[in-house]
Amino acid sequence: MKIQDKILELKKKKNAIILVHNYQIGEVQDIADLLGDSLDLSRKAQSTTADIILFCGVHFMAEIAKILSPEKMVLLPDVNAGCPLADMAQEDQLKKLKDSHPDAIVVAYVNTSAKIKALADVCCTSANAIKVISQIEREREIIFVPDQWLGAYAAKKLNRELILWPGFCPTHMKIIPEVIIEKKKKHPEACVILHPECREDSLELADEIFGTGGMLKCVKESSKEKFIIGTETGIIYRLKKENPEKEFYPAQELAICPNMKLTTLEKVLWALEEEAYEIKVDEETAQKARSAIEKMLAIR
Ligand code: 13P
Repeated sequence: MKIQDKILELKKKKNAIILVHNYQIGEVQDIADLLGDSLDLSRKAQSTTADIILFCGVHFMAEIAKILSPEKMVLLPDVNAGCPLADMAQEDQLKKLKDSHPDAIVVAYVNTSAKIKALADVCCTSANAIKVISQIEREREIIFVPDQWLGAYAAKKLNRELILWPGFCPTHMKIIPEVIIEKKKKHPEACVILHPECREDSLELADEIFGTGGMLKCVKESSKEKFIIGTETGIIYRLKKENPEKEFYPAQELAICPNMKLTTLEKVLWALEEEAYEIKVDEETAQKARSAIEKMLAIR
């Protein structure tokens, strides 16, 4: 029996759903009940009727699922699948910053721990950051945590100042202007699509700026045939599968998130068999974090 069939069989028996982020390896993407960006996956985690949510992504994503569906069992196949960007925001530091800006609204990118979300007023993803921020009255100060580049991009788009946290995604930081310029020289007719977690000087070279969900939509709707993709390279598998007639070039071949790559089919099967690693969030933290996540999900 193939490992994929074993997973399918066990998944049915246990009434589990498999949620997979766009950066996962191809064979894990192929077993997804839902493959998507952070926002799609959060919405699904909120609405599913499954008993078990098996999350193929990183820790903060599974944590969001647990916060939104506390009565369900949420599993992460590799307990080490973290997010260095999320780890860049610490509770005590954010408390200090909030104390020095007592009237500020705190917008937390979903790439944060539950403890940070519990200190935030509202969350956002790369797909809705601009929309979320634009709903906050202009005279209010805003603390944006933890991705400085997504924050700077939203600030520029909305022409307003944000108090930025100095965090960054190490994988997106590898997508430097030099490599993009090199790729543009090789493929001058290609459309350059970058993730807003890229540095500002890289974003200046983009034709389009989108999170992973937006990238997929943009490519599908575009009349162009060639694309330079500036984000974690795992998304190229899905882009090729859904657009076999189009060509994709990673802006940076080294943009590989080691955490996203920890999930394998073997670990997925093991996680379902053993019901591990179970993600838990204490109720007090979860309650506060849930309010910030639900406020985001209410914005359509
Ligand atoms: P998306 O929400 O665009 O899928 O991004 C998730 C992420 O973690 C980017 O590093």
